[in-house]
Amino acid sequence: MMVGESTTALFDADNYIAINEARWTIADRALKALRASGMTLETAYDFGAGPGWFAKRLKQSNLDVLALEGREDVAEAGRQRAPGCEFGVLDFDNCATSEALPPRDFSLSFGILYHLENPLRALRMMGAMTGKVMLLETMVVPDADFIARVARENPNETQGIQPLAMILSRAALARGMWAAGFGHVYRCTLPIDHDDFRDLETRHPRRGLWLLSREAVSIEGFAPIEIEEPRRADYWRK
Ligand SMILES: C[S@@+](CC[C@H](N)C(=O)[O-])C[C@H]1O[C@@H](n2cnc3c(N)ncnc32)[C@H](O)[C@@H]1O
Repeated sequence: MMVGESTTALFDADNYIAINEARWTIADRALKALRASGMTLETAYDFGAGPGWFAKRLKQSNLDVLALEGREDVAEAGRQRAPGCEFGVLDFDNCATSEALPPRDFSLSFGILYHLENPLRALRMMGAMTGKVMLLETMVVPDADFIARVARENPNETQGIQPLAMILSRAALARGMWAAGFGHVYRCTLPIDHDDFRDLETRHPRRGLWLLSREAVSIEGFAPIEIEEPRRADYWRK
């Protein structure tokens, strides 16, 4: 199947490539630092892969890549653009958690969680598929509480498949990381070269980037965060 340019045009827009470059700078650095620390990374998932911009770079970084994408036509574009990477179709909002595939050493979860109806379930599933380390980048809502906002998705290929998505706060996301079983979580403290990650005069940071690991790691630019087992509060108290 040949894939039309309309399927991929939005993924190729200048602003899209700019945020990709900014995020890849961090991912590349983290991969190199993890390997330099002695961790063997041979296999990888790219979750919500789009047409393969990151999958291609993961492959160039000597990883055997299985890219998972919810839309068949976008996955097909990925097969054409990222030769040597395997592409599968997996819709995180319409699959059973029992469909989780066997763990791979490294997972990239960039730009997908905030497009999902159920980011917590997807994160748990991504966790089950991660053998060693996951790099997670997502949008967050600026609120100190453990909350999520229900957002309308734009109807195009770069967005959620369903019309609504849930965007978590940082605190809610941390609970999701706990539920996904990651014992060691690190917040990226490196400057990421895109306004979405910056605290601007008129806008809170819209995105963040985290490293989630099964074992403790020490990587420059990633600060450990303590995640306690969540406790239930009395939300109904007046
Ligand atoms: C914003 S793009 C991100 C692409 C790439 N990961 C990146 O960060 O640039 C979101 C991708 O997730 C895919 N997607 C949306 N909803 C999905 C779902 N329920 N399951 C799997 N993929 C989904 C979209 O088709 C799109 O390719």
